[in-house]
Amino acid sequence: MPIFDTHAHYDSNGFNADRDEVLSALPAIGVGLVVDPGCDAESSRKAVALAEQYPHVYAAVGIHPEDCAGCTDADFDAIRALCGHEKVVAIGEIGLDYYWAENPPREFQQAVFRRQMELAQKLDLPVIIHDREAHGDSLAIVLEYPEVRGVFHCFSGSPEMAAELLKRGWYLGFDGPITYKNAKRAPEVAAIIPLDRIVVETDAPYLTPVPYRGKRNDSRYLPYVIEKLAEWKGVTAEEMMNITWENGLRLFGLGGRA
Ligand code: NI
Repeated sequence: MPIFDTHAHYDSNGFNADRDEVLSALPAIGVGLVVDPGCDAESSRKAVALAEQYPHVYAAVGIHPEDCAGCTDADFDAIRALCGHEKVVAIGEIGLDYYWAENPPREFQQAVFRRQMELAQKLDLPVIIHDREAHGDSLAIVLEYPEVRGVFHCFSGSPEMAAELLKRGWYLGFDGPITYKNAKRAPEVAAIIPLDRIVVETDAPYLTPVPYRGKRNDSRYLPYVIEKLAEWKGVTAEEMMNITWENGLRLFGLGGRA
């Protein structure tokens, strides 16, 4: 089975020079599916345009916490309208980011997050959550919407938080940083996660795995993440590739489509 990169920002300016070259090459090198999550209305539109252009690309649409400053009703209306597109499979990426002091105020991030969780509930779409240095509030807000499911992208919380999410049907995303020497929590989380809730992501152009750390990331480097997870879970890399492919299809409701 091919590789499913469940989170890659090919709409990002980082791919302006060679976007078509990189995306066109993916199926032949074993990357069968990509989900490109938007970060605001404009990048969500671009993600949808890429999904229209490439059969192996699907889009998620949403307003990222780091990009939510000044977002208006028109932005939410645009996201809502894009959700009706046949290649939009999730709302994302949405959530909370308390890492940078210059990020939008926490209360505002929370309001934007809740509004998009409500939309996901109404439209019965999965969500892609971004949670950086905001574990308590992110967990509290998703628990306000018990019918909504999805993935915590690049999960960085504790094993206890992982357990709370896993028992409610959530998936957890693993990225390049699990290959870094200082990865401490990721192996602890990997130890408790059932195989059927793991998805793999590049977060391209960011979070490049070892041995390419420092370069621009893209889906061709995902095997390094898959190999690390396979090692931790005691399965072969091929088994992990197949498992994470099936999990991605289930998460995004693509079973009958891809
Ligand atoms: Ni991302």
